[in-house]
Amino acid sequence: MDSQKTGKFIVGSIVIFAIVFFVINIVLSTMQDKAKHVVTPESMTEEAIAERIKPVAEVHVGEPPVVVEAAPIIEASVESGEQIVANACALCHSTGMMQSPKLGDAAAWAPRIEQGINVLYDHAINGFNMMPARGTNPSLSDDEVKAAVDHMLSLVK
Ligand code: HEC
Repeated sequence: MDSQKTGKFIVGSIVIFAIVFFVINIVLSTMQDKAKHVVTPESMTEEAIAERIKPVAEVHVGEPPVVVEAAPIIEASVESGEQIVANACALCHSTGMMQSPKLGDAAAWAPRIEQGINVLYDHAINGFNMMPARGTNPSLSDDEVKAAVDHMLSLVK
């Protein structure tokens, strides 16, 4: 190699290195971003849940501040069906992802309701095809999952 070629080779290497570094950087930061949204046991603490489901807006009218619609969830140790659906089930069921019966879609639910409520409870608790057991939330009790199913059914009545 003469010195001109060596020079090109070095510049080329640096450029390639910079590109690879850049791409890896993007991939890593994307993964990190995704990881933040993964539900880990730490993120299921009452404070973390309260933080996630806190009311979007608080209206302050003069002093002292008036909190409109504070979520009463923490006082009741059992979450309501509606809250469970919002937190644990809506991910798939709000959009009908993976052919899940969509919330409020009476036609999608009709044949399922025909199976009887106990089959629906069983499928929600233990899983059924692509429907993961307890919607992948092992911390939900049977009663909580049933409350979620009841809420789903109330949306198509
Ligand atoms: C990862 C996506 C996903 C999540 C999260 C999820 N579901 Fe489902 N669910 C599905 C899919 C897909 C089906 C359709 C399964 C089939 O019919 O093969 C389904 C079906 C159902 C059915 C009907 C079962 C039947 O026998 O027809 C019920 C009831 C249900 N889900 C309840 C729940 C409840 C309650 C939660 C939250 C605790 C939940 N799902 C969370 C994907 C999900």
